[in-house]
Order: sequence, then C-alpha cells, then structure tokens
Amino acid sequence: MNSAEPQRRFLLALESSCDETAAAVIDQQRQVLSNVVATQHELHERFGGVVPEIASRAHVERILPVIDEALRQANVKLDDIGAIAVATHPGLVGSLLVGLTAAKTLALVLDVPLLAVNHIEAHLYACQIAAQSSVFPAVGMVVSGGHSNLYDCRSPVEFDLLGSTTDDAAGEAFDKVAQVLGLEYPGGPRIEEVARSGNPQAFPFPRTFLNESRLDFSFSGLKTAVLYAAKGIPGARVQPPPLDSQRICDLAASFQAAVVDVLVGKCDQALRKTGRTTLLVGGGVAANSCFRQRLEEMAARRRVSLVISPREYCTDNAAMGAIGWELWERGLFAPLDTDVIPGLVRKQPTTR
Ligand code: KG4
Ligand code: ZN
Repeated sequence: MNSAEPQRRFLLALESSCDETAAAVIDQQRQVLSNVVATQHELHERFGGVVPEIASRAHVERILPVIDEALRQANVKLDDIGAIAVATHPGLVGSLLVGLTAAKTLALVLDVPLLAVNHIEAHLYACQIAAQSSVFPAVGMVVSGGHSNLYDCRSPVEFDLLGSTTDDAAGEAFDKVAQVLGLEYPGGPRIEEVARSGNPQAFPFPRTFLNESRLDFSFSGLKTAVLYAAKGIPGARVQPPPLDSQRICDLAASFQAAVVDVLVGKCDQALRKTGRTTLLVGGGVAANSCFRQRLEEMAARRRVSLVISPREYCTDNAAMGAIGWELWERGLFAPLDTDVIPGLVRKQPTTR
C-alpha cells in the first residue's frame, strides 16, 4: 500500500494558533463535514488584545471537547480518521503547542500520518473550499490579526512571499484603532459597523507605500494618525473636539477607507507584477464588506477572477486545514518530533 494513498476517508484538522480552538472533519472532496470553533474573545476582551498565557490555558481546557464535538457533528468515528492536520506555524508558541500535542497524540494512537499546516497558507486555502475547480495558480492576500502578506501561490503547496507588513498587520490596526475609539474587541467588525454611518473622506489619512512599487504594507503611521485625530497631539496648542458619536463614525470610516485603498491597490500591483489572472483573499479582515466590495470592483475592472474566502472561513477555523489533504495526497507527512514555529516560515520538514 502506498502510504500517501488515503485508505481511511476522513481528515481531522486542528487549529489553535491564536485565540480560537477549532477542529474540523473534511472528506477527500474537500467537503467540510463539521467545523467547530470555540472562540476566546470573552477572555481577552478586557485586555484589548490576546494574552498568550490565557490563550494557551483556554486551549488546554477546550481542545478535547472541541474535537469530540467535531467528530460527533460529522458523524465520524476516530477509527475513520486517516490523517491529522494541525496548524504548527506561525502563531503563539503556547497556543500552537496545545494543538500540536493533541494532534501528535492522536496520530500516534491511531497510527495515522501527521500533517503540519502553515496557518497563513490555510487562510488562502479557505478560498478553495467553496470553489468548483482549482483556484491555483493565483496571487494570494492574507489579511488577519497577525499577518498582512501577499503571495504568488504557484500550487496548493507552493507559496512564494511577495510582500508583507513592515509593522502592524491590518487586523491589528483595526483592533488598535477600535481601542482608541472606545469600541470593543475584536475591533474589525465594530469598526465596519460604525463606519457605515461615517464619512470616509472626513479625514485624509495616509496610504503608506500605495504609490510605490514594493508589495509591502505599513499601518503604524495610519494608526498614529487616527490616534492624533481622535485624541490630539500631546502638548499641541490646538486640540481636537471631543469624540462624539459622529466623529467616531467619521474616524472609523476614514480609517477603513485608507486600509482598503492600500490593500486593494497592493493586490492590483501584485496581479500586474506576476501576470496571474486569479486573486485569492483570506484572513479575518477579508470578512469586511467594504473591502470585499472594492475587491470585486477592482477584479471586474482588471478582468481577473476573484475568490474571497467564504465569511465563515475568514477568521480562524479548522476547516481551512483542508489544505492538509494536499499534503496527504502528496505524501508530505510531518515527523512525530515536529515542533511549532512561532515566526513566519514557509516550510516544516517533511518525510515521505
Ligand atoms: O484570521 P484571524 O481570525 O486571526 C489571525 O490569524 O490573526 O483574524 C482576526 C482579525 C482581527 O484583527 C479582527 O479585528 C479582524 O480579523 N476582523 C475584521 C473583521 N472581522 C474580523 N477586520 C475588519 N473587518 C471585519 N469585518
Ligand atoms: Zn489566522
């Protein structure tokens, strides 16, 4: 028997790279049979961001019930699982370790292969899940709480980094600006909501690197510009008016417009530079309606096909671990001494 040939029919995917504990069961046709996500937002809300120690402890408590629930909802037994995929990089060390330890234990006990999933590549693979045919090759943009990256996606297992953020990720900027405006965590959805009642042209915020050919991003200058517009420049003689609700909406709308301009502009540039005719967009910020609409306009204008991750697979989830099937079918297994890698690297070592 070729060990790369799936004999048992189902993939169990685990995800615990940040503050969601998630498990999914996926069949070989990439059909998601269950997708269970336990969010920890309520634990981190009062800190305005994810506290790594709290996150890893919560993963420990939740990982087994989440796996049980994913199997139950899929109506699949552990014995039917043929491989375990787990996000091993990048992410928070303690959080990643919980998922990896659970995955290794299951792989060992069930005697099935372990598959090491790159969390960022999985965000892009979320675009494949609902598509009728292969979405590769393509330009891929991942915009999440931890990352803003552009890739040349040559195949489902070959991703070349074209550019990334030099400071804050786009989602992180949404979260920090929300905090300045007194909106609750996670900030992205709240900014989107209040921005609907605001004027996107009220504040001329910077669009960093937009007119440069490099495919990198920077959002810290924009974040500081919003802070000064909201709270004033320390020590300055003239201070802004108080933050009433209209001003909050205008600041949110103007901030969102600046981020969206840059993200859409960089996708456009990456398409031109690579000559690719498909654009994939994934990650938490891809849930943003204003961003989705602007992407659609750009794609129609450039006549490229656009595949945005379905909304339920934008923020962290294990269904996007369906990319594990691509590794499984190619025999790209992870050894049992695989470790987590917190930083952004492209590859884990594999054995065939
Ligand atoms: O992909 P994700 O769940 O986590 C990481 O891998 O980092 O992304 C979470 C990020 C948060 O920063 C959140 O504020 C942002 O995605 N986000 C949004 C929206 N929904 C979530 N940002 C803008 N608009 C949204 N609707
Ligand atoms: Zn993520």
